[in-house]
Amino acid sequence: MRTCFNVDLTGMNTFRMKVSSRCLVEWSSVDELRDAIADPSLPRPLFPIGGGSNLLFTKDFPGTVLHCSMKGIRRIGPDRVHVDAGVVWDDFCAWCADNNLWGPENLSYIPGEVGASAVQNIGAYGKEVCELIESVECVDIRDASLITIPASECDYSYRDSRFKHDWKWRYVVTGVIYRVSSEPVPVLDYGHVREAVLERYGTDAPSELTPEMVRETVTSIRKGKLPEVDELGSAGSFFRNPCVSPEAFSIVREIADKDSLGPVPHFELEDGTVKIPAAWLIDKCGWKGMSRGGAAVYIKQPLVIVNWTGSAIPEDVMSLAEGIRASVKERFGVDLNREVEYV
Ligand code: EPU
Repeated sequence: MRTCFNVDLTGMNTFRMKVSSRCLVEWSSVDELRDAIADPSLPRPLFPIGGGSNLLFTKDFPGTVLHCSMKGIRRIGPDRVHVDAGVVWDDFCAWCADNNLWGPENLSYIPGEVGASAVQNIGAYGKEVCELIESVECVDIRDASLITIPASECDYSYRDSRFKHDWKWRYVVTGVIYRVSSEPVPVLDYGHVREAVLERYGTDAPSELTPEMVRETVTSIRKGKLPEVDELGSAGSFFRNPCVSPEAFSIVREIADKDSLGPVPHFELEDGTVKIPAAWLIDKCGWKGMSRGGAAVYIKQPLVIVNWTGSAIPEDVMSLAEGIRASVKERFGVDLNREVEYV
């Protein structure tokens, strides 16, 4: 276990905010984590962090950041894999592709670590990680006890889980058990994925595809649209795509007709609501490329706020986000909710 005090967190959050933490514990076994939780001398609160790719530190953190450095991937059956929380998510995707296992290929190249993937229910290109999760292993911060939580109890939904609500600040994820498949189960029906696969490989027949082919395709789509977090700080999508009532959607359509904005992209969901890409709403409010201090709206994907100058401060990002939220509400009557967590 490595314990450090007054630690610079710039390298531990993908937004690259220059903030510090009173204390940082890098734990490399479940027992070490339990010892840290039981140690009353560590500053509170205790806050588990993965790759820091979905959060914005709004100020210096007064407690202890807990980070997992365990990086094991173990096959525990023909179709089940145990992965330590500290494994870089995309390393797990690469491992599956190398072993010809289907499951996470559409989620390739998403920044962050395995532990956070289970909290946040990461999703992309027609798949969500909750479809693969069998159970989540955690330590309870209240009493350092171990618990294995079946996915069915995590209340997974679009970019959401109980870990973000009643279990917030309660559990530290130590590992995740995923179900994968050695039979081809490609999911190609989102956006241009099928087209891109056909263009690259000349076929979309499941029996002729490998998980590596889908992984490569998705990776190249992402690289064309989203900033590389190593080069330009960001936390990926800043807002969730809003799901609105059919009535609210009609209002958006009327405004789009009146202002000649073209057809409104949308997806009708099973629960009767309509999902509208937040990127479209933000774009039509004229935010592309706009900035506040060192933070800017990414030109290729306006759902992403970037640390454009490299020296943006949390207030720049928060002020830009608030401006976006207010103008989308004013023009379209739609509420944008943050995907990024403020700490
Ligand atoms: N659009 C515009 N203007 C633009 C760019 C996009 O109007 O400049 C509109 C277009 O209608 C386009 C849509 O926005 O069809 C963008 O859709 P796209 O499928 O590219 O992505 P998204 O809905 O904006 C979601 C996820 C991404 C994920 C992609 C692909 C959320 C909040 N975001 O974005 O996740 O990679 O789908 O599945 O659901 C992340 O969470 O960090 C993330 C990047």
